[in-house]
Amino acid sequence: MGLRHPKARFAVIGQPVDHSLSPLIHKLFARQWTVDLDYRAIALAPENLAAGLAALAAEGVYGLNVTLPHKQSAIALCGALSERARRAQAVNTLTAVDGTWQGDNTDGIGLVNDLTQRQGIDLRGRRTLLLGAGGAACGVAPALLDAGIGELVVCNRSPEKADELVDALADPARVHTRYWKDLDELAHFDLIINATSAGRGTQPLKLPFHLGARQTVAVDLGYGRAAIDFLAWAKAAECGRTLDGLGMLVEQAAESFYHWQGVRPETDEVYGQLRKAADGEGASE
Ligand code: ATR
Repeated sequence: MGLRHPKARFAVIGQPVDHSLSPLIHKLFARQWTVDLDYRAIALAPENLAAGLAALAAEGVYGLNVTLPHKQSAIALCGALSERARRAQAVNTLTAVDGTWQGDNTDGIGLVNDLTQRQGIDLRGRRTLLLGAGGAACGVAPALLDAGIGELVVCNRSPEKADELVDALADPARVHTRYWKDLDELAHFDLIINATSAGRGTQPLKLPFHLGARQTVAVDLGYGRAAIDFLAWAKAAECGRTLDGLGMLVEQAAESFYHWQGVRPETDEVYGQLRKAADGEGASE
């Protein structure tokens, strides 16, 4: 079977967006069907998001990936939302349907597919700590619950946002919020997800080492430079496995591609290629 929309136009919108790997990943996917996909990176400042989305729809762009800082603000500009976008209250995939944007979120399923299928991790029953309550955390929390994790503790620097996320998840038997300062008193976790943007900023994450143990899988949703500090903490905390977000990036892209094109790309080779490039860069830094 071929692609549903081989000649359509696609883009990723964000700010900054120059270093986004999405154009490369989607082009490599399309090449599996010998299609040269038109997929670009478009920088959009937050104040231009509404006008930018309207202009892209008017120009006939069919599909958009949405990255920082627009994942939550783009929700209000969608004419319709998929169930997983509604639950996440964040979007990363927009499709032009009847003159409006339909919003979807493939981040959560991308993370779960990477952890379970590529990394072979059984998520069921895992006591999980989710650090952060912004767009990235909201995007992955519902899918982690659907994958059968055990207790989910959401911890955010500003507690109001953690409370909001926990309320939206509406699973009081499994999901709780704790203050950042209370991390000192919590027992170790089986899964720790860093969904904060600390690695992209100047203020480091402050985490106690006792949160990690041999059975702990520690995952940073970022990759490259942004993931260095958290993964260094996780190793020092003796977490049994430490993973960055490169696999999730490829898997969320594959879900978006499937949503648009109706066919599933092979992801292992693309992941392998990006991993090699990322490790090479790391070595030269
Ligand atoms: P994203 O879309 O990447 O989630 P975001 O919506 O701006 O970006 O959210 C960033 C998250 O990282 C927030 O949860 C933020 O905490 P606050 O809500 O308290 O701002 C968190 N964060 C950023 N820098 C942090 C730091 N140095 N320590 C702890 N949390 C941090």
